[in-house]
Amino acid sequence: MANRRLAPVSEQPERFAFTPENAEWAKGQIAKYPEGRQASAVIPLLWKAQEQHGGWLPRKAIEAVADQLGMPHIRVLEVATFYTMFALEPVGRYWIQVCGTVPCDVCGARELKQMLHDRLGPPGHVDPQGTFSWLEVECLGACCNAPMAQINHDYYEDLTPESLGRLMDDLAAGRPVRVGSQTGRTSSEPKDAVTTLQDETLFDGSRVGAWRKRFEEEGLKETGAEAARGEAEKARTENAAADPKPAKPTAGRASESPAAAAPAQRAADGQAPVDPAAATGQAAPERSTVAVSRTGPETEPGPRSGRSYTTTPSNPDEGRPVAETKGSTREAGAEPMAAPGRTDGSQAKPVGVDPADKGPPGPKPGG
Ligand code: FES
Repeated sequence: MANRRLAPVSEQPERFAFTPENAEWAKGQIAKYPEGRQASAVIPLLWKAQEQHGGWLPRKAIEAVADQLGMPHIRVLEVATFYTMFALEPVGRYWIQVCGTVPCDVCGARELKQMLHDRLGPPGHVDPQGTFSWLEVECLGACCNAPMAQINHDYYEDLTPESLGRLMDDLAAGRPVRVGSQTGRTSSEPKDAVTTLQDETLFDGSRVGAWRKRFEEEGLKETGAEAARGEAEKARTENAAADPKPAKPTAGRASESPAAAAPAQRAADGQAPVDPAAATGQAAPERSTVAVSRTGPETEPGPRSGRSYTTTPSNPDEGRPVAETKGSTREAGAEPMAAPGRTDGSQAKPVGVDPADKGPPGPKPGG
């Protein structure tokens, strides 16, 4: 990193003032900011002062800018010494700022610096002819084309010690030079083997409006398909009206049989059960919406299984049926259940447990 010190007193001018033209320009810059915020114009004014003074900022120029903006001198000095874009010492006609930050460093900036050191001497000094001076600076934002250097207002990229040497020769001789990449690549395109953006139509303007044309064509296709679908639907509706098909009487409805045909109802009404063989043409029992016994006709009302009790959960949290000896509810009209059908829970004991085992030892009631 370069030392940021003011030039020696011997180099400093005794006074500094903007030319009338630059003073007018400075007023325009200051007027861009609201009242009380004139300090925001400090960088443009320092830049103009440097330009006017041959490319570097003397102390008197820094103080003149501070006075014009109503700022303490030290505040403007802080700005001028922070940014390397402000040269604090005299520079050559061509001021070379070489980027030394990592991307440029790994791509060859060290060789560039060595070449400049060999040719011009240490950084910050002007060559005897007053043509060149150089300085190492931080990233200048052209890392994709590293290594690079800024010479006065222009960037020169993809440099090698040889190409930078030729460049300096041309500048010193007043010959035209190529700004930007010195290897000929456009902008920041890949260094070798360009494989993308090769289509000329991307750049000749022939694609302008192409997306609109494509959307219009797709819209027309969609409209045509929609019209064709509408025609087909219309034709189908007309055909259906002219030639209706007979619908089945039960089409779309649940198949039902009269409740009076149910065996339980017939039994309740004192009628004989229906002979299945004679029930041909009636709805199949398994398809009936009325409960029908699958085992045969029922002759009397009552429970249809050996169990005449329904169970209810003993604890809503458990959701398990209770023992049949308590909490059970008889079905309405059912006969009392035979004793063998009821259990006391003893059959739930694990296999291998001695029935004589009365439980863990301990005090017995009354014992
Ligand atoms: S690192 Fe050199 S330009 Fe960014």
